[in-house]
Amino acid sequence: MYITILAIESSCDDTSAAVIRDGNVLSNCIANQEAHRQYGGVVPEVASRAHQANIIPVVDLALRTAGVAKREISAVAFTRGPGLMGSLLVGTSFAKAFALSFGLPLIEVNHMQAHVLAHFAEEPKPAFPFLCLTVSGGHTQIVRVENYQDMQVIGETLDDAAGEAFDKTGKMLGLGYPAGPLVDRLARQGQPRFVFPEPNIEGLNFSFSGFKTAVLYFLRDQTAQDPKFIEDNLADICASVQHTIVSFLIKKLLKAARQTGIREIAIAGGVSANSGLREALVALGQKQNWKTYIPQMQFCTDNAAMIGITGYYKYLSGQFCGQDAAPYVRGFTGQ
Ligand code: KG4
Ligand code: ZN
Repeated sequence: MYITILAIESSCDDTSAAVIRDGNVLSNCIANQEAHRQYGGVVPEVASRAHQANIIPVVDLALRTAGVAKREISAVAFTRGPGLMGSLLVGTSFAKAFALSFGLPLIEVNHMQAHVLAHFAEEPKPAFPFLCLTVSGGHTQIVRVENYQDMQVIGETLDDAAGEAFDKTGKMLGLGYPAGPLVDRLARQGQPRFVFPEPNIEGLNFSFSGFKTAVLYFLRDQTAQDPKFIEDNLADICASVQHTIVSFLIKKLLKAARQTGIREIAIAGGVSANSGLREALVALGQKQNWKTYIPQMQFCTDNAAMIGITGYYKYLSGQFCGQDAAPYVRGFTGQ
């Protein structure tokens, strides 16, 4: 008998559904919401409405792509949090209704834990314990992963997330939303010749607010002297921004690896799609003799496959939830 999980992710602005069979991804479908571009950021109300419009077609597509009938599903996994309340409510309510109508068990999944476990959607899989730098639009965390359930956040951002640092500095440069991928693309054509100060944060925590302010003042001063400064130096500014953010992240990851003695090192979340971070991790990994794990692009940004993989391991250990499970906005475990 197969264990077939239908997974739903609706925590932010992407509606996603996936089908996972015995831990293998059969489909992973995502409806992106282009509507937010015109506002320069995610508008929660707009996101909720788009989830409502997208959820049925995306689930239908995921089932058809997987070649799986509704009656073959063993359980429904859904993102319970953290995320935007209105967005989470759509996926949670859909999952509950689906499970109720087919008499299936429900599995609640924490979005941040799922980003970490996205590494189990492909080969090679990390060995426990491993460290995972989870970098997204809302979070920046170094997680010590003992097993599928037991994870501790050993470092995190005190203010902005790494993705926000990309998006906000990109916005200052006049780039569209989300700016992260655009900064990445432009950075490849430039040189990191501008230097921004590093924050002096104790331990394994991060801070990006000082960096953001430094970029703002730098651009203000330079454009006062030369109004075409941004236009003429765009690729080099992007390369410098990316180089600085990546170096903050990599330095703390190195510190965490040294402190814990762990040599299995992974990255996850939307910012793990960044080419500078991917290259820097590979280079450092070779130098430090680490085994490094970098997700395929489809498993970096928000996706339901990671929810389904997490759901699969919870299914194996009998961790189900009731129809009364309500979404939560913050938290690593929801507790
Ligand atoms: O994990 P994710 O899809 O959603 C959240 O849970 O937040 O991450 C989205 C974030 C955005 O800030 C986006 O700009 C950033 O990931 N991002 C990137 C790249 N691709 C996505 N940042 C830098 N370089 C990229 N290639
Ligand atoms: Zn995410």
